[in-house]
Amino acid sequence: MTHGAASPTAFMPRRLRVVVIGAGISGIQIAHDITSRMRNIDLKIYDKNEGPGGTWFENRYPGTSSWLTTFKHETTQEETIVEADVFVYAVGRLNNYKLPDFNGRGGFRGDICHTACWPKGLVVSGKRVAVLGNGSSGMQCVGALQYEAAELINFCRSQTWAGPGLFDENKRFTEEEKLEFANNPDLYHKYRTQLERQIASAFRVLWKNTPAHHEMRARVESYYDHKIQDPNLRRMLQPDFAPACRRWTIGDSYIEAMQQPHVHLVQDHVASLTENGVRTCSGEEYDCDLVVCATGFEPYASRFPVIGRDGISLNDCWGPQGDCESYMASMVAGFPNFFAFHPPHCPVNGSVIPGIERTSDYIIRILTRLQTDCLRSVSVKPEAQHQFVRWAQSRMAHMSWSDPCSSWYKNKEGRVVVPWPGTNHHYYAATEIVRWEDFDLRFEDPTQKYASFGNGVTEDGFAPEFIPWVLTPQGQQRGNFANRRGFESRQVLVDLPILYDR
Ligand SMILES: Cc1cc2nc3c(=O)[nH]c(=O)nc-3n(C[C@H](O)[C@H](O)[C@H](O)COP(=O)(O)OP(=O)(O)OC[C@H]3O[C@@H](n4cnc5c(N)ncnc54)[C@H](O)[C@@H]3O)c2cc1C
Ligand SMILES: NC(=O)c1ccc[n+]([C@@H]2O[C@H](COP(=O)([O-])OP(=O)(O)OC[C@H]3O[C@@H](n4cnc5c(N)ncnc54)[C@H](OP(=O)(O)O)[C@@H]3O)[C@@H](O)[C@H]2O)c1
Repeated sequence: MTHGAASPTAFMPRRLRVVVIGAGISGIQIAHDITSRMRNIDLKIYDKNEGPGGTWFENRYPGTSSWLTTFKHETTQEETIVEADVFVYAVGRLNNYKLPDFNGRGGFRGDICHTACWPKGLVVSGKRVAVLGNGSSGMQCVGALQYEAAELINFCRSQTWAGPGLFDENKRFTEEEKLEFANNPDLYHKYRTQLERQIASAFRVLWKNTPAHHEMRARVESYYDHKIQDPNLRRMLQPDFAPACRRWTIGDSYIEAMQQPHVHLVQDHVASLTENGVRTCSGEEYDCDLVVCATGFEPYASRFPVIGRDGISLNDCWGPQGDCESYMASMVAGFPNFFAFHPPHCPVNGSVIPGIERTSDYIIRILTRLQTDCLRSVSVKPEAQHQFVRWAQSRMAHMSWSDPCSSWYKNKEGRVVVPWPGTNHHYYAATEIVRWEDFDLRFEDPTQKYASFGNGVTEDGFAPEFIPWVLTPQGQQRGNFANRRGFESRQVLVDLPILYDR
C-alpha cells in the first residue's frame, strides 16, 4: 500500500533470518508458530535425521547480532555456512544418547544396541538378552522383551520405583470412538480437559512432605504388596527414596517380567564385556547374545560448540562443569538472539508438549518485538538469569526430585537442574508477560529507540480493514496489533547432518 510520502513505515516487520537446529516436536512447534503468527521470515530448519519427529523418529524399541552456523555433511564432509539473525536450539534434551564405553567391547561376539537407536530387524527371539538400566526405557524394554527373549537379565546400578498407572483409564480407542471425537469437537474438548485436569492433580505428589505425597507412597507400597509375591524380590525392587524422585514409570509389565522364571534382576554394574557376555564389578560373568543399553542420555552436553558473546561456550554453561543456568526455559545470558527448547529448569512433568508450546509462544513474542521495533538484538541480563535460577534452586529442597536417588534430573554434584519447580500452569503464568526489564535491548540506532514509529502510518495505511476499537456484534474485539497474523513465510526442511557426532 503506497501513499506517497505517507507510505507506511511504522512497526514494519523487518526480514528476519531464523535458523532452527532440530526438527523434533520443538522444531515443528516453532516452525508452526513462526509461519502462522509472523511474516517476512526466512526460516531454515536443519536436522541430522532424514525426517522430522526427533524422539519419535529415533526411539523405536519395542555475541554479535547474527549467528554463523556451520553444518558438515556426515558422509560427504561438505560444509555449509548459514548466517542468521536468530538461532533456535531445538536439538532435544533426550537426543544425545549415552552408550557405555565398555572394556572388551571389541571381543564381544554378540550384538550391542541402545534403546534410542534400535536396529531395524533386530531378532530377539530365542536370545539371551542383557538389559542395562532401569529408567523408563529399561523398564519398558524388559516388559516387552520378556515374551521373546529366551533369557533376560536386567542389570541395575541403583533402585527405582516401578509405579502403578496414575490414571485408571489407559484405553485403546476404537476407530468409531476416534471418529466420534473428530465429529464432535465439544466431546473431544471435554475429554481432553478432564485428562489434563487429572495430570494437573498428579503434580501434587511432587511436593515432599504433603498429604498427597504420603498418600502416593502408601499407594505404591500397597501396589508392591499386591503385585510382588517373593519377599526377596520385593526387597530388591523397593527403593528407600521418594517414589517420584526419579521420573515416574508405570511398572506393570516390568514387575510382571521380573517374576518370570527366565527373567533375572542383577543389582550390579556391568564393568566390561567378555567374548560371551558381560562381567560385573563384583567379577561375576553372565553369558548373553545381545546387550541392550537402556543407559539414557546426556541432557546438556552439546554435540557441537555454540559460542556466544565474549567467546562463552554453551557447554561451559550447561556441561558438567557449568552452573546450568538459563532463563524462563527459553534463553541464556551471554547468547543474544539465541533461543533454546528444554534448557535447564524447564517443564518436564506429565507431557512435555504443553511446555514446548508455551516456550515457542514465548519465543515468538520476543521475536515479534525484535522484528518490528528496530531491534538488533535481545539478550537476557546475567543478573536476571541468576536471580531466576536462585529462585528455582530455592524450591528444589521441597520437591521429591531432591531425595537421594540417581536421576538424569541432577548434575554431577547432585543438584537438581533439569525440571521447572512448578506445575505447567505455573510455567504458563510465569511466562504470561515478557519481563522486558530483564533484557538488554540493542536498537538498530542506539540514539533513537523510537525509530520503529516511522512516519506515523502503520501498514493499515488509510483504508484499514482492521479497526481495533470497534467491537464485533458479539461484543468481542477483533484482536490487537500484537497478535495479528503473519502472511508470507518460508520453510525449508533439509537433512544436513550434525557438525560433530560421537
Ligand atoms: C523413549 C522416550 C520416550 C518419551 N516419551 C514421552 C512421552 O510419552 N511424553 C512426553 O511428553 N515426552 C516423552 N519423551 C520426551 C520427548 O523427548 C519429548 O516429548 C519431545 O519429543 C522432545 O521434542 P524435541 O523436539 O524438543 O526434541 P527431539 O525429539 O529430541 O528432537 C530433536 C531433533 O534435533 C535433531 N538434532 C539434534 N542434534 C542435532 C544436530 N547437531 N544437528 C542437526 N540436528 C540435530 C535431532 O535429529 C532431532 O530430530 C520421551 C523421550 C524418550 C527418549
Ligand atoms: N513416557 C515414556 O514412556 C518414556 C519412555 C522412555 C523414556 N522416557 C523419557 O526419557 C527419559 C530417560 O529415560 P531412560 O530410561 O532412557 O534414561 P534414564 O532414566 O537416564 O535411565 C538410564 C539408566 O541407565 C543406567 N545407566 C546409565 N549409564 C550406565 C552405564 N554406563 N552402565 C550401566 N547402567 C547405566 C542408569 O543407572 P543409574 O541410575 O544408576 O545411573 C539408569 O538406570 C525418561 O526419564 C523420560 O523422560 C519416557
